[in-house]
Amino acid sequence: MERLQKVLAQANIASRRKSEELIVAGKVKVNGQVITELGFKVNKNDNIEVDGKPIKLAEHLYFLLNKPTGYLSTASDDKGRRTVMDLLTEEHKEYRLYPVGRLDYDTAGLLLMTNDGEFTQHLTHPSFHIEKEYLVRVKGIIVRKKIVELRNGVTIDNNYHAKPKAVRLIELDKKNQSTLLSITLIEGKNKQVRKMIEALGFKVKNLTRIRYDFLNLEGVERGRYRPLKIHEVKQLHAHSISKI
Ligand code: URA
Repeated sequence: MERLQKVLAQANIASRRKSEELIVAGKVKVNGQVITELGFKVNKNDNIEVDGKPIKLAEHLYFLLNKPTGYLSTASDDKGRRTVMDLLTEEHKEYRLYPVGRLDYDTAGLLLMTNDGEFTQHLTHPSFHIEKEYLVRVKGIIVRKKIVELRNGVTIDNNYHAKPKAVRLIELDKKNQSTLLSITLIEGKNKQVRKMIEALGFKVKNLTRIRYDFLNLEGVERGRYRPLKIHEVKQLHAHSISKI
């Protein structure tokens, strides 16, 4: 059982607050009866109408997960390793969610999860140049000349010229002999950041995705997730369609 305003918001009728306004204004019927009580609970079999039109219950869910390292970005694993599915609540496990793209087992950070195939297809389409920003802790000191080399692009996978959208030096830690970089990519080849750093002659110590287009990890602890807001889903959708 869910609160009526939550169900309306999940069905993309309006935001939670606007849905409450619709209820209070007497525009919502449940099984033929006008409901103006905000706490009213409904279940999947209830017939809900807004302004006389039946609503289609949300089958599509969209989440922003802060993935910890040590989890696979797959729905299941035949070797029994932990997957991002293990981070979902029992209720959400029923919705056949899966990750939009991938983060390596050893990579942490922002991963979108959904059960909307069309949305996933758009976002992962190669011509959709979505920015993904990574914080990369590299073993060793990367000198300026090497950063320029990385900015100009390096060769990975034998002959692919991988050129980042941006590279920023954040910290040179001489004491611990490591360098912290921010790398922004608009493509997503398999293990691209690790391969680029290796092509430069270094090794990645830690890798975290901190941004996906306009979305960041603010307010979402490692291992936790939050639903995307309606306007966030719409904005991602609009971006992807306009760029294909
Ligand atoms: N690049 C990588 O090397 N690994 C990831 O998980 C994401 C980008």
